[in-house]
Amino acid sequence: MRIAILTSGGDAPGMNAAIRAVTRTSIYEGIEVFGIKGGYEGLIDAKFEKLIQSSVADIIQRGGTILSTSRSERFMTEEGLEKAISSLKIFEIDALIVLGGDGSLHGAKILKEHGINVIGIPCSIDNDLAYTDYTIGFMTAVETVTEAVSHIRDTTEALGRANVVEVMGRNCGDIALYSGVSSGAESIIVPEIPLDINEIAEKAIMGKNRGKKHHIIIMSEGCGSAFDFAKEFEKLTGIDTRVTVLGYIQRGGTPSIADRILASEFGYLAVKEAKKGNSLALGYKDGKVIKMSFDEIFNVKKVFRKDLLEILKTVSI
Ligand code: F6P
Repeated sequence: MRIAILTSGGDAPGMNAAIRAVTRTSIYEGIEVFGIKGGYEGLIDAKFEKLIQSSVADIIQRGGTILSTSRSERFMTEEGLEKAISSLKIFEIDALIVLGGDGSLHGAKILKEHGINVIGIPCSIDNDLAYTDYTIGFMTAVETVTEAVSHIRDTTEALGRANVVEVMGRNCGDIALYSGVSSGAESIIVPEIPLDINEIAEKAIMGKNRGKKHHIIIMSEGCGSAFDFAKEFEKLTGIDTRVTVLGYIQRGGTPSIADRILASEFGYLAVKEAKKGNSLALGYKDGKVIKMSFDEIFNVKKVFRKDLLEILKTVSI
């Protein structure tokens, strides 16, 4: 049997740990395993490379992806898709394992609909796949943001300022929500909840009047300009306000323990499922690994953790 693996879309810390688990489990099972370089672009151009035990040595702790990744527009064309499928046929691949987020798993679904056996492993710092509680990379990104906010908090406190910290997540507010709780931010702004600048400003004024020396607001990139918000907030509160855009720092770095374990579990199970000839996506729900069909995963509606937001608001008064 032959398995191929690719990483697609934005990289996420923990992808390498999953590549390692897929490679080593395949070899253990006597399956030949190939890495595809550069995501769906590499699949179209048949950039296959045989992986052996040592190909994945010393990578469990590394961010990024040793296979490289891409956001492939060609794959969305009929010609690109045809080439991708023919690459898999030429290399006699029995199953493809796709590591990526929403767009990448949509790509996996299309391949499945064209008769390819595919296993999807959710990887994205955004945590925007509704069917799984966590995607690989999310918890690491939350840790990175939390660490950054603790640095920002020191200087914000020293000068009695406010700081608006813009985080990634596209249209999903989970990075802002979880890092808001873990860093003790006063307020968060997320796409899922309508913005009430007056409520945020009132909270800051009350805090200031009580002697609070800092005010941290974590804002999702999907909510507009952090600079515009900061200007308005400063006008309403009279508090000197700065902006920090964390940017790509959130996507790199050594994966957290949670992400390494999740990646190892997913990678191992992906091979087991591929061996059975199944096509499905792996996920994590209520403390357990789950298997779902590609049709099912896109029918689940993402639920924003309002309970966690309530906790954040309560404990940051
Ligand atoms: O991978 C997810 C993500 O980091 C989003 O949070 C962000 O909006 C986007 O990717 C940035 O994409 P790019 O790397 O293409 O600029």
